Amino acid sequence: MICIEHLYKIFGYGTVNEKLALQDVSLTMHPGEFITIIGSNGAGKSTLMNCLSGVEKTDHGNIFLNDINITKYPEHKRSRYIGRVFQDPMKGTAFDMTIEQNLAIAYNKDKFRGLQKGISKKEKAFFRERLSLLGMGLEDRMTQKVKLLSGGQRQALTLFMAILVNPKLLLLDEHTAALDPATAKKVLDLTDQFANSKDLCTMMITHNMSDALRHGTRTILMDSGRIIMDISGEEREKMTVEKLIEQFEIQNDRMLLK
Ligand SMILES: Nc1ncnc2c1ncn2[C@@H]1O[C@H](COP(=O)(O)OP(=O)(O)OP(=O)(O)O)[C@@H](O)[C@H]1O
Ligand SMILES: [Mg+2]
Repeated sequence: MICIEHLYKIFGYGTVNEKLALQDVSLTMHPGEFITIIGSNGAGKSTLMNCLSGVEKTDHGNIFLNDINITKYPEHKRSRYIGRVFQDPMKGTAFDMTIEQNLAIAYNKDKFRGLQKGISKKEKAFFRERLSLLGMGLEDRMTQKVKLLSGGQRQALTLFMAILVNPKLLLLDEHTAALDPATAKKVLDLTDQFANSKDLCTMMITHNMSDALRHGTRTILMDSGRIIMDISGEEREKMTVEKLIEQFEIQNDRMLLK
């Protein structure tokens, strides 16, 4: 279970550029839950993920993972439990290394073992078997460098690497935004497949309203560093893209009137 309590993040504190990027964000997520996150540019969506993964320090509030307070844990200490995929397909993998080297790094990331020992036969067989589940033929290209893969194949590989160590939390920051519609669909289908695991909490940021409703079990809307809508169950089932956009606009107007 992930529990976020009264999280605040201020950038450039005390300077003219001071920005309250997260204000009093609280959220509880149960295993198996898949939250889609929407909100306009600068709403604080990526900042929330940066604070959860430990890339950014928080200024106030706490983050609990299965009742353990991880708020002060550095990023590397959280990486065993938190997988992440970004928008940029270039970001998640080491492009000049082979597919199997990338997988070995991801698989051994908490063991500080590096690649000195090489990749064991057992590991290779395991990667091959798991990769075949992607249905992209990557299991036959394991010794090829990642730079030879297309953006979509790379995102699928990054997603696969993120879940390889069975994390508790999977953070997806517009991870299909740079892909063509057909490839985006394939990666989203894979996302659904992985998110289906009953032990995993998944959070996915998207600017695509229909994806936000079609995928996942719960949707939150962020604005000015706050969560201003949180829907699940029947309420979410009744929600349409049109109503969601309406909600978006009403909230934006309210913020302007303040
Ligand atoms: N490292 C940083 N230093 C200073 N300000 C930052 C930093 N990162 C984010 N911000 C600011 O915090 C606010 C929230 O940014 P964030 O990247 O979380 O938005 P977002 O909701 O992910 O937007 P987008 O949809 O454009 O990706 C913005 O005003 C942004 O300029
Ligand atoms: Mg962002």
